[in-house]
Amino acid sequence: MSALSPNDTEAKPVASPLAAAPAKAAALIEANGLTRRFGGLTAVDAVDLAAAEGEFVSVIGPNGAGKTTLFNLITGLDRPDAGRVLYAAEDITAMPPKALAARRMARTFQHGRVFANLSVIDNVLIGAHARLSAARPRLGALAELALAAWRPAALRREEEALRREATDILRIFGERLLPRLDHPAHSLSYANRRRVEIARALALSPRLLLLDEPTAGMNPTETREMLEIIRDLKGRGLTILLIEHKLDMVMELSDRIIVMDNGRVIAQGKPAEVRHDPQVIEAYLGRAHRSAETEATAGGKRAGAAP
Ligand SMILES: Nc1ncnc2c1ncn2[C@@H]1O[C@H](COP(=O)(O)OP(=O)(O)OP(=O)(O)O)[C@@H](O)[C@H]1O
Ligand SMILES: [Mg+2]
Repeated sequence: MSALSPNDTEAKPVASPLAAAPAKAAALIEANGLTRRFGGLTAVDAVDLAAAEGEFVSVIGPNGAGKTTLFNLITGLDRPDAGRVLYAAEDITAMPPKALAARRMARTFQHGRVFANLSVIDNVLIGAHARLSAARPRLGALAELALAAWRPAALRREEEALRREATDILRIFGERLLPRLDHPAHSLSYANRRRVEIARALALSPRLLLLDEPTAGMNPTETREMLEIIRDLKGRGLTILLIEHKLDMVMELSDRIIVMDNGRVIAQGKPAEVRHDPQVIEAYLGRAHRSAETEATAGGKRAGAAP
């Protein structure tokens, strides 16, 4: 292997993580027969899932259906007892999250995960650095230090470019985060912490983005705002897997919906198909659907159902 040329550390133009990716028809992510047991409980039971590049697929189902466990299996946070996951035609089953980040798979967590003591901008820069370090040739810690001492100007330019990029990403949240770039994440509102987490995921320049209940705990205005942001990401060609209980949002955004119950996929299809599937109505929408119908009969307006 040839020695690393000094040019390899030059600040290069950073491709915008928000640049549109071309949509193709091939499956970008595919899970076959994924199974995860916890003692006597089968949390994910022989689940098949596929999303084509540029597709928006939502996973819905009642509490405890296995949705988050499914995401954990796809993103390498947990290992399946059976089944496999293919990503861009590569078998990534149980590959560690870091290796998946290098392949531009990013996720957010149901209960939100930010670095509480870091500022907003530093949280996002972590995502950008993860992408860059994944793209660089592997060097030892000493070699990294030597390079840092050797090329401070190039590193400074790179750092400035990354900071601009991180600010651009934060701009998608309007004025929610821009005035708070240097605030520690722990001082933010709950909704803003969730926005920071999404921004960090976007800084990875993801090809596949998995969002686990991104609007949990948000009020209707914040939820609508998040819906528009996710719609915008979809419009840019990102492949998105979404777990969400707010069904109005799911119906509005999804190309396809997968419905889980007790670890199994009980239905899947386009929003209109899933909405009218009797099994889904019974297992998931039952109570909300019946109460909505009562409301509709009484002249009321149907609200987004949460189980
Ligand atoms: N680490 C674990 N150990 C034992 N049981 C677990 C573990 N993780 C999940 N479970 C169980 O697996 C089942 C599926 O949980 P999971 O969190 O995937 O559901 P979910 O569909 O995401 O639910 P929610 O909508 O409430 O987030 C639940 O019964 C849960 O208690
Ligand atoms: Mg969950």
